[in-house]
Amino acid sequence: MTYQEEDLFFRYNYKMSKFFALIPAAGSGSRMENKLPKQYLPLAGRPMIYHALRTLCRSPGIVSVFVVLAPDDSEWLRHDWSEFSGKLVVFNYGGVTRSMSILNGLKAAPDASSIVDSDWVLVHDAARPCLSEALLNKLMNELADDAVGGLLAVPLADTLKRSDVSNRVEHTESRKGLWQAQTPQMFRYKLLVDALSRPSSIAMTDDASAVEELGLHPKLVLSDARNLKITYPQDMILAELILRAQLEGYGEYD
Ligand code: CTP
Ligand code: MG
Repeated sequence: MTYQEEDLFFRYNYKMSKFFALIPAAGSGSRMENKLPKQYLPLAGRPMIYHALRTLCRSPGIVSVFVVLAPDDSEWLRHDWSEFSGKLVVFNYGGVTRSMSILNGLKAAPDASSIVDSDWVLVHDAARPCLSEALLNKLMNELADDAVGGLLAVPLADTLKRSDVSNRVEHTESRKGLWQAQTPQMFRYKLLVDALSRPSSIAMTDDASAVEELGLHPKLVLSDARNLKITYPQDMILAELILRAQLEGYGEYD
């Protein structure tokens, strides 16, 4: 399957496309060193995944939100998700890697929703609980007419050092043109299925990488550092502060 950006432009009827979201939540959170998978760790009074789910479900433009859990998940049903029942679709089809979880969820989606090939899918990690409504809207607005799709991302702020084997600075790297990829990452359903179905995509840590392998150039939509990913225990402190500020209405000062 080859894709040309010009072809993509004509393949779909853009104005008719609907928006769907998919949250991969089948990881174990090994770097958090907690027995509970990180998507369920308590954060601002809720299991972590609640926050991303709430932001996506509250977006009027999003038709359904698919959540992909591990087949042996024993935690999901311990919580009350009824406030999302209008949009929430849960699959216990998590795979060995993030990409496999997403692909399994995408393949199950047509039987559980009205999704068609040209619809947009916003893939968003359960581990990014601080996604704001403003950034979500910005991503959807900036990409709605795009041929390829894209992702939220932040230009690198820190100075970059290349080390030698003994952790001494070999040289300083230029950070010009370097961005940190975040989620949501937004691509059309069929394009995402094609990209993630390639064997080389199995170990990729984001969806854009798989789309790039098709020769396409996803658009970087300027985000900010508040949409952080929780990877290590210390990330919880910052996320808790950001979420509390957002819930109290102080989070949006842009
Ligand atoms: N994920 C998934 N299926 C997997 C692995 C990861 O659905 N087999 C999900 C995670 O639940 C998370 C997102 O992908 O929401 C981003 O992955 P990451 O932050 O790496 O989470 P984990 O893989 O759970 O953490 P770790 O890599 O530390 O084990
Ligand atoms: Mg992982």
